[in-house]
Amino acid sequence: MLKIGIIGVGNIAQHHLASYKKNPNCEIYAFCDINEQRLREMGEKYGVTRLYTSKEEMFAECPELDAVSVCTWNCAHAECSIAALNAGKHVICEKPMAMNAKQAIEMQKAAEKNNKLLMIGFVRRFGKDCTVLKDFVDAGDFGDIYYAKTTYLRRAGSPGGWFGNKSLSGGGPLIDLGVHVIDLARYIAGRPMPVSAFGATFKKLGDRKDIKKEKGYVASSTGGAEIFDVEDMATALVRFDNGIVLSVEASFSLNIKKDVGTIEIFGTKAGANLSPELEIFNDRNGYLTNVSFNQSTALSFDGLFESEINHFVDCVISGGECKAPAEDGVILMKILDAIYESAETGHEVII
Ligand SMILES: NC(=O)c1ccc[n+]([C@@H]2O[C@H](COP(=O)([O-])OP(=O)(O)OC[C@H]3O[C@@H](n4cnc5c(N)ncnc54)[C@H](O)[C@@H]3O)[C@@H](O)[C@H]2O)c1
Repeated sequence: MLKIGIIGVGNIAQHHLASYKKNPNCEIYAFCDINEQRLREMGEKYGVTRLYTSKEEMFAECPELDAVSVCTWNCAHAECSIAALNAGKHVICEKPMAMNAKQAIEMQKAAEKNNKLLMIGFVRRFGKDCTVLKDFVDAGDFGDIYYAKTTYLRRAGSPGGWFGNKSLSGGGPLIDLGVHVIDLARYIAGRPMPVSAFGATFKKLGDRKDIKKEKGYVASSTGGAEIFDVEDMATALVRFDNGIVLSVEASFSLNIKKDVGTIEIFGTKAGANLSPELEIFNDRNGYLTNVSFNQSTALSFDGLFESEINHFVDCVISGGECKAPAEDGVILMKILDAIYESAETGHEVII
């Protein structure tokens, strides 16, 4: 039975917890959060009595902990993951891996030095839609993939709280939302290495607090200072070593009709659109054909976290190959760093 600790018992930690609870090989053992009130409430909710406001204290008093989920604000991912790895724990760290590539590399080194698993919460890799599409890509149905188009656009969807505070989040929609779709497209395309990026970021609409919303995205996280100093929209083109070019657009605020999230990939033999259900576009016997599925290929948020956490637990127990390793987190942070640098300089950045 693995003893599990959670650092940062906010919103996303609840998805980790629900998944650990269902896993017969896990015992939810200790919580750490700098917010004492939330720590107590979550302790009561999950029947956990080992509650700490300091991770160092948690590691000192619970040497028997096997693994931890790091679910804090982005600014604490590196510090908390490194402390856990140095205390001899396996770690799953939420996305984005860190604030920048420098921190991500330090985390990867800590995992290697301590010979512990550091998995990154690239949860979209665990979606059924991704699995099915990847099966078709791996079977060669797409031929050479040369272009991927990804969007994660919200019309008025700033998550609020610390997400808008650059010193706590590292950035806006690019590092928060773009990270999901860039990673997914790269993963589906066979994990090519990035070589350059050209990006632009905008601070035009801010967090649109004045909008009277009846439906649509509702801000969920409210901790941290109420500052909004991140970009509200970002766009970029990323070039990979195998010739693939990826375009990404991400926003918290944008004058668009409705929120959209798309992952499209284009190859010499077929193209695909991942949402809301997977569709494949190809040609047969001189006719343009569209392939649809006789089973659901839609994304299910709950199923995602369960598969992700089950995989983490399996990797810890069996030492098997991790589907979302630290090295991919480092590569993603290098891409994000390059896009932000390009947005500042106005030039393409070599990665
Ligand atoms: N995989 C996904 O789809 C997904 C979705 C939402 C959020 N996230 C990620 O999860 C992380 C947390 O987001 P959230 O929405 O749960 O935020 P949240 O504000 O609801 O929770 C974060 C918690 O971390 C605590 N915390 C901050 N710094 C800490 C530290 N140094 N030590 C201990 N506790 C600390 C805060 O007090 C808070 O309770 C972020 O990195 C975010 O990007 C991932």
